[in-house]
Amino acid sequence: MVEDSLDSVPGDAATARRPPSTFARDTTVTDTSVYERFDREWPDCWADAAALLEWDEPYDEVLDADDAPFYRWFVGGRLNAAENCIDRHLEAGRKNQVAIRWEGKRGERRTYTYYDLHREVTAVAAALRELGVEADDVVTLYLPTVPELPITMLACARIGALHNVVFAGFAPDALLGRMEQDDSSVLVTCDGYFHEGTAVGQKRKADAALAALESTIPTVVVDRLGADHDTQLGADQYAYSALADRFEGATVPPVSRAATDPLFHIHTSGTTGEPQRMTHATGGYLAGTTWTTRAVFDLSPGDTYWCTADMGWITGHSYVVYGPLARGATVVLTEGSLRYPDRHRPWEVIERNAVNVFYTTPGVVRTFMKWGESFPAAHDRSSLRLLGTVGEPIGPDTWEWFYTHVGEERCPIVDTWWQTETGSILLSTLPGVSEMKPGAVGPPLPGIEARAVDENGRELPPGEPGSLTITKPWPSMITPLESDRYWVLAEYWQQFSDRRADTWQYATGDRAVVDDDGYITIIGRDDDVVTIGNRRLGTAELEAAITAVDGVTEAAAVAGSADGDTDLYVFATAEQDLTGREALRESISDAIVDRIGRFASPAAVVFTPELPETHTGKTMYRVLEGIVDDAPLEDSEPLRNPEIVGELTTLWGRN
Ligand code: WTA
Repeated sequence: MVEDSLDSVPGDAATARRPPSTFARDTTVTDTSVYERFDREWPDCWADAAALLEWDEPYDEVLDADDAPFYRWFVGGRLNAAENCIDRHLEAGRKNQVAIRWEGKRGERRTYTYYDLHREVTAVAAALRELGVEADDVVTLYLPTVPELPITMLACARIGALHNVVFAGFAPDALLGRMEQDDSSVLVTCDGYFHEGTAVGQKRKADAALAALESTIPTVVVDRLGADHDTQLGADQYAYSALADRFEGATVPPVSRAATDPLFHIHTSGTTGEPQRMTHATGGYLAGTTWTTRAVFDLSPGDTYWCTADMGWITGHSYVVYGPLARGATVVLTEGSLRYPDRHRPWEVIERNAVNVFYTTPGVVRTFMKWGESFPAAHDRSSLRLLGTVGEPIGPDTWEWFYTHVGEERCPIVDTWWQTETGSILLSTLPGVSEMKPGAVGPPLPGIEARAVDENGRELPPGEPGSLTITKPWPSMITPLESDRYWVLAEYWQQFSDRRADTWQYATGDRAVVDDDGYITIIGRDDDVVTIGNRRLGTAELEAAITAVDGVTEAAAVAGSADGDTDLYVFATAEQDLTGREALRESISDAIVDRIGRFASPAAVVFTPELPETHTGKTMYRVLEGIVDDAPLEDSEPLRNPEIVGELTTLWGRN
């Protein structure tokens, strides 16, 4: 879903940029020999990543291949993730350094030093224990961007319990599905939150999901709305603040976990209708996120870092919580929209907190572009040293705008490619080392190997687009639970590896092209997943919600950027003729909002006599995407019903 035209071919020598010389002097990874060394010493090179952590017990081997394709990392080692993110900084004399600076929607501000964080995390850990949570139990967190979210995540990690964070914007149904899959022992939520001035109920949604659960579970409720809003606590429901007060000053030694023990679950959308449960292992995940936080974001203790991602998604796990805190940085958390109370907010956040590293999405940058350069220009941005993006391709025009108007041509941009499954960044330039090619994410990081392959898993020559695969294991790769191994294998490893038994190939589900210098440009998804506002949703899950509406026979959901922002567009076929279309349209929107959440509500619903199909009856999403993005596919040959393309284009024009 690239909005900008890619007329300047990524990889073009004319547009490639050297990292600004002022930056290159300060970086921690300053030397291109790291690529060669990681290549030569693979997999032992990954001991470098493990060395950034504190271990209770050293590991016996870096990589254990016994369980291939599910390689296991740092086997024999033991550590605790929360201890690595908090306690060791206290011992290193950083008790009073700020760990979290939170800015609420109504202008509230809260600051937590590493010592404050330690005290509250320990109190919440003690409270969770009191509620019966033990190591390996799962705690579901359903919270917006409030400090209690990372605190509870770390409290779980401290006692060896797994957190399962569910995006706060999800509807009760989606929460329920994600809680049931995990057999959650406790739910932590809040009374509500403010949306541009009005209070939105969160507990109401949580209660609806809880009522549908087979057994009742204890629920902890954070007070976000304040004294003006009364919240009724039912049986087995507890106020977070009362628990935190009660256990203030408690001692809870961190539970030592095997490197291969799970740290958390997170659900993502795959090609099936059901949310898919991902599991990350403690040692490899923390090593991967910490290493990339240092190498890609150049974060060291004392640096201030702001990432706009929600903690409900993997970016928030890896690069709001674990990576930056393991590095001892100061993390800025912002609740709510970047345009509220006005369009100066993002720049005020940067100015007020003296942010050094700013990580966001191309969609957010496009919004800034639309607002205009006068907003950043009105604020002091001299603290910024490095900018980063994630989640979708950043076109060269957006890149240039970000580089010029935000980074003042002094800050390198890292365009980072990774996924929920990869746990940490795999493709990106190293700032201060690599040339940047606007539009291309860059080469694989040291120690990582990636390819564009054809449908048989064979590597394609430079310039030819294909399926992106990762051809060597990496420390933060998903490590499925026993019960998930079957589908994980089918979804990620059997697609290509099966046909070429000699190669280990992880299928990313993305399409990409590699240039002569090994720089990779991501074209988009290659499977039935759409990315809306950087949230991955399975088309199957969306389409199931749509076709459940009476009168709808078939549906296809695609992401497109007709209006600059990436939005959801629905194409549907209906039983009845033109009468009642408006009502049906509304029912479709309502069904999506009810089943998935308001954030997914479609920008348009277009009725069509037929969906474009392949000869085997599969919906051709690329035809629909082409229509939405006003870049029609030229070749309609693979279609069973090529005549529908013209008709769809007309229908789209009328919409
Ligand atoms: C897409 C988010 C282009 C890609 C970290 C991937 C990107 C999916 C980039 C993962 C990028 C991520 N350029 N596309 N720099 N980074 N993507 O699991 O399609 O929410 O497969 O993880 O986002 O989304 P997920």
